[in-house]
Amino acid sequence: MEFAGKTVLVTGAVTGIGRAAAEAFLREGATVGVNHPGQPALFAGMADELRDLPGKLVECEADVCDAAGVQRMVDGLAKATGRLDVLVNNAGISQVKPFLETTEDDWNRIIDTDLKSVFLCCRAAIPHMRAQGGAIVNIASELALSGRAHFAPYTAAKGGVISLTRSLAREFAPSIRVNAVAPGPTHTPMLEKEAQVPGHEEDVNEIPLGRYADPSEIAQSILFLASSRASFFCGDVVSPNGGAVMR
Ligand SMILES: NC(=O)c1ccc[n+]([C@@H]2O[C@H](COP(=O)([O-])OP(=O)(O)OC[C@H]3O[C@@H](n4cnc5c(N)ncnc54)[C@H](O)[C@@H]3O)[C@@H](O)[C@H]2O)c1
Repeated sequence: MEFAGKTVLVTGAVTGIGRAAAEAFLREGATVGVNHPGQPALFAGMADELRDLPGKLVECEADVCDAAGVQRMVDGLAKATGRLDVLVNNAGISQVKPFLETTEDDWNRIIDTDLKSVFLCCRAAIPHMRAQGGAIVNIASELALSGRAHFAPYTAAKGGVISLTRSLAREFAPSIRVNAVAPGPTHTPMLEKEAQVPGHEEDVNEIPLGRYADPSEIAQSILFLASSRASFFCGDVVSPNGGAVMR
């Protein structure tokens, strides 16, 4: 129950890794701001399923690419709960497309959703965290470390997330610890969508552990980095990827 009495905001939290992270914090007693960009039915289902867990869920609808919406969401959650202790920048999109077919719109949409959103959410959240201290966990991707054909804007955005993580870690230490999680392939709606493009399923034979991750396994890395057990982690990138990328 390390997070009892604490407020955590998870972006993109009604599906996949974000949902698993929200559940993990809830089990630890947190009040969890569950951000979604307009999926109230998914939030309602999640709230119903998790209603017996110790923490509390707060619905936080906002498009993480919209500066004013992000500011309203973060200020509203901090005001309603009296504090903000943890921000998990998880919301994201991917796209499988050959580089030479990638349009400027594709590029802007992916960079906005996967990288600018992290800037906007951190900028809104940090002033609420500074006095009492806090932790930020940004979700990058193993693909930022390895690169991947047909994922250029996505890998560029996720590489940017890692660099942004390190700069913010230096700027706001020691009061706010900023770290990143760079997951390998994980069973989520994003991966299912990517696998529909012929020839683009991630090959499990290239993963020494021989399988994809369950979102709950990635959530444990997020929970760890946000917790006092990670008190000496600063600007780090933890990559649960089944051994696909070894650094
Ligand atoms: N699944 C994988 O294999 C994998 C691997 C590495 C990294 N990741 C990263 O993990 C994170 C979560 O992805 P996932 O795999 O759980 O997929 P997902 O599609 O289930 O989750 C992404 C979430 O982001 C939300 N979102 C998208 N645009 C948004 C916006 N503008 N505003 C607010 N929310 C928005 C979606 O509603 C969704 O809930 C992403 O950042 C993704 O890049 C996933």
